[in-house]
This record gives sequence, structure tokens and C-alpha cells, in this order.
Amino acid sequence: MTSITGKVAAVTGAGSGIGRALALGLARRGAKLALSDVNEAGLAETVAAAEALGATVHSAKLDVSDRAAFEAYATTVAEHFGVVHQIYNNAGIAFNRPIVESTYEDYERVWGINLWGVLTGTKAFLPHLIASGDGYVINISSLNGIMAQANMSHYVSAKFAVRGLTETLRLEMADAGHPVKALSVHPGGIKTNIASNATIAARERGEEITAKEIAIEKTYNEKLLKMSPDAAAEVILKAVEKDKSRVVVGNDAKALDLLIRVAPSTSLSIISSAMKRIVR
Ligand SMILES: NC(=O)c1ccc[n+]([C@@H]2O[C@H](COP(=O)([O-])OP(=O)(O)OC[C@H]3O[C@@H](n4cnc5c(N)ncnc54)[C@H](O)[C@@H]3O)[C@@H](O)[C@H]2O)c1
Repeated sequence: MTSITGKVAAVTGAGSGIGRALALGLARRGAKLALSDVNEAGLAETVAAAEALGATVHSAKLDVSDRAAFEAYATTVAEHFGVVHQIYNNAGIAFNRPIVESTYEDYERVWGINLWGVLTGTKAFLPHLIASGDGYVINISSLNGIMAQANMSHYVSAKFAVRGLTETLRLEMADAGHPVKALSVHPGGIKTNIASNATIAARERGEEITAKEIAIEKTYNEKLLKMSPDAAAEVILKAVEKDKSRVVVGNDAKALDLLIRVAPSTSLSIISSAMKRIVR
């Protein structure tokens, strides 16, 4: 069993959605928090809510795709609190485009946050987690770390890699006798701003948003992102408390995980056809 009370926990992407809910769930359990996000306004709201729950909070603007900044940040957090026990590598973005239409820059942008950001957070905090004597790396993958999905190769490949990274880390820490566990988190549809934020970011890059892309955003917001971030965070924090190595979050993700295990070769095309019908 891992106790969260009194631990120092760092959460990236804490300004919205699952990251905010994790921060508040950790605060309710009596953790000390290092909260970061690239979005300062969202971060400030989370910090205020966590402090209202009585938490001690260090906050900083951080872009997880900036490796040098992330490494410096890990040192700052360790110096600030004197110890760091847990890192929640949560910051992430969604992106939707077929492989034939995608540019290398599309992959660099998504992988920079969803894969390299997780790797940097893991490596930069690892020496501090080992030194804490009771460390935990919690990496937010996705249902798409188990299940491929058309038009999401950037996201899917990053999330599969996060699962591989996290499972390997757990084995290596155990083999080396280091006091650090690792948890790979696979949420299904969680009611956050992730789909809308993808559209906002595309507009900011000057991209034209097609009617199909608007329909996809609407479908996600109205039909697919169902579970509340607070409920998802509770499942994740309970998995940490139980020392789990993998947690699938939400009934949708659990059902699809099972379907893929039972019928690995046919399930993906069945799911893909169902997705097309839903988006239409
Ligand atoms: N919502 C879902 O259905 C769902 C499902 C599976 C996995 N996830 C994963 O959960 C994580 C959190 O997503 P969410 O749904 O809460 O989305 P969200 O958009 O509500 O929150 C993501 C947060 O990450 C921050 N962020 C984005 N780019 C960043 C960067 N470069 N550096 C630092 N912070 C950055 C955003 O500002 C935002 O505050 C992501 O890794 C996402 O892939 C979400």
C-alpha cells in the first residue's frame, strides 16, 4: 500500500481536466503539491482550489516539451520541498489527421508533449523519487495506449509508447531494487476540454477547421467524453494507493480493453466502423 498523505507530488497539465482533478484529489488526501501547466490562467484556478482545501502548493508555468526547462523544474521542485515522492505525467493534447495528410511537424508537436514530455518528466524526477525512499511514477497513457484508432496515429503511437516506457520502468526499478513503482493509466472518455482544446490550438496555428473536424469535436464532447474528471482521478489515486502497475479507467475503456483481448484481429475494424457511425 502507498500512502499519499504527507507526500510531495508533482502534476503536469494541472490547469484543466484530469490534471486539475488529480491535484484536488491529492490535496484532499493531504499531499504537498508541485503544480505546473503551460496555461497560467487554468493553473491559477487549480492552485486556488487546492489551497482552499488546505494544501501547500508550489506552482510554475511549464511546457513539458521544453526538455531543459523540465529538467530545471524538477531540480527546483526538489530544492523547494527537500524531497519529491510522486510525478504525475499528465499534460497531453489530442490531434486528429490521417497519416497520408500528416506532416512530420504534426508528429513532432504531438510526440513532443505526449511522449517526450512524459519521458523527460520520468527521467528528470527519477533520481529524486529514488532518493525519497518511496517513489511513484504515474504516466497518463490512454485507452489509445491499448487500442489503435483511425486518424489518431500521432496520439496512439505516443500513448502506446508511454505504456511501454512505464511498464519497462516498473521492471527496471524492481530489478535494481530501487524504491520506485510505476503506473500506466488508460482512461476512456473523460469529460474534459481535450477535444475543444485541440480545435483551439489548431485555430491558433492558423489552420482552417473543416466541418468534419467540428463534427468530431462535437461528437467527443456530447457522446464520448462521459466520465467526470473527479471520478477518473479517484480511480487513478486508488490505483496508486494499491501499488498497481496498470489501471484502465471507465466502463467504456474496460469493455474495449476486454474486446481487444478476446478478438484482437477483428475488434479494431468493428470499433472503427462503430466510431464512423457515431461521428456521422
Ligand atoms: N479526456 C479524455 O477522454 C482522455 C482519455 C485518455 C487519456 N487522456 C489523457 O489525459 C491527459 C489529460 O488530458 P485532459 O483530458 O485532462 O485534457 P485537458 O485539455 O482538459 O487538460 C490538459 C492540460 O494539459 C496542458 N498542456 C497542454 N500542452 C502542454 C504542454 N506542452 N506543457 C504543459 N501542459 C500542457 C493544457 O494546458 C491543459 O491544462 C492527457 O495526457 C490526455 O491524453 C484524456
